[in-house]
Parts: sequence; C-alpha cells; structure tokens
Amino acid sequence: MRIDIITVVPELLDSPFNHSIMKRAQNKGLLDVHTHNLRHYTPYKQAQVDDYQFGGGAGMVMMPEPLAILLDKLMAERTYDEVIYVTPDGSLFDQKMANGLSLKGNLIIICGHYKGIDERIRQHFVTKEISIGDYVLSGGELAAAVIVDAVGRLLPGVLNDETSALTDSFQDGLLAPPVYTRPADFRGWKVPDVLLSGDPKKVEVWRYEESLKRTEERRPGLMHD
Ligand code: ADE
Repeated sequence: MRIDIITVVPELLDSPFNHSIMKRAQNKGLLDVHTHNLRHYTPYKQAQVDDYQFGGGAGMVMMPEPLAILLDKLMAERTYDEVIYVTPDGSLFDQKMANGLSLKGNLIIICGHYKGIDERIRQHFVTKEISIGDYVLSGGELAAAVIVDAVGRLLPGVLNDETSALTDSFQDGLLAPPVYTRPADFRGWKVPDVLLSGDPKKVEVWRYEESLKRTEERRPGLMHD
C-alpha cells in the first residue's frame, strides 16, 4: 500500500513512521509512506500557502492552487483509491473504516492547518473526509499518523503473529479481554487460574466472557449498535 501525505509541517511526520511496527512495515515493502511539503508546490512568493477568508472572520484558509498543483501531479503519476482530507467535521474514524482502508492500494491524505482548506478542493478532489475524534487538533498531521498506523498494522504480513490483529479490541465489535504475563503471582496479585489451566477451550470461553463483560461495562453502545 502506498500513502502520500500532503502537509505544511512534514517534520511532524518524521517520527511516527520511523519506529516499531510502521518502520517494519516499510522495511518489508508492505507500506510505502511519502510525505510532501505543500510549500514546495505553491506558485506564490515566500512559499505562501494560506490566505485570509473571503467574507471576513478570524483564521487563514489553505489556498486551492498549491493543493491542486500537487494533487494533479500525484494523480498523473498513479491512480488513487481515495483522496482523504482529515478534518474535525469528517466521518468518525473507527476500526471498520481502518479495515476498509487497509484493502485499498494507493491513498492520499491531506492535512489541514489554520481554518482548513478551501472548500473547492474538498468538492473537486477529496473523496473521503475523516475525523479521528470530537476534538480539534492544531493540524491534520497527528490525525494522518493515527490513520496510517491503524491501517498499516492491518496489512497482511505486517504483524508477526497474523492472528493478533484479529483479536484486537473492536475487530469483532467487542473490547479485548484482559491479558497477563509472568510472574503468575505479583505482589500477591494472582493471574486467573483458568489462564494457567492449559485448557485452550476454557481459556477461549473465559476470554469471550471477559470481552462481553468489559464491553457491556465500558462501551455498551458497541454491543447495541
Ligand atoms: N484536524 C484537526 N482536528 C482533527 C480531528 N479531530 N480529526 C482529524 N483531523 C483534524
């Protein structure tokens, strides 16, 4: 999968993809992330990419030309399955959306800043608008990093244990059950006996029941959607 990220602050994306699972995904050739500095594509002086809003009001808006120039260039090089704009007024990102995106080939993610991007780019280029939660970030970069991480780890071969993404919270509409590791007795706090029983059937039933309990307690809406 190839993901092209358009940003005015590429430095914000230096770190998230260069460690741990995202790094491994790229080293294995399963994920190819490219960040593009929008300022390199503006026809305006002093690398200007934003301007005042028509109609007045506080806050600058990202101008259409630099975005269109870069989008045209990328779209002439290959076809994209989605042009995503990350924005607080987009559809809420969830595991189902991550699963869907993980099946795509090439994606573009546009990160907004200031008051956002000119509406005409949303109308004529963007195919999907995503919010990662009901709060406002200073820019779309962290949202893009969240999406790339959530999607990238689902690509076949990225996780060592292929089954581990399947047992994540949300994959079956439930939260994941509690997990324990050594020692079996830590400060007198004991691991549930069933996990030490060596009986995989019993463990499976216990985990399922704990998942149901946890979901009912913490996120009842997930079960009744
Ligand atoms: N940009 C600013 N806030 C955002 C959010 N909550 N989700 C996605 N992009 C954003």
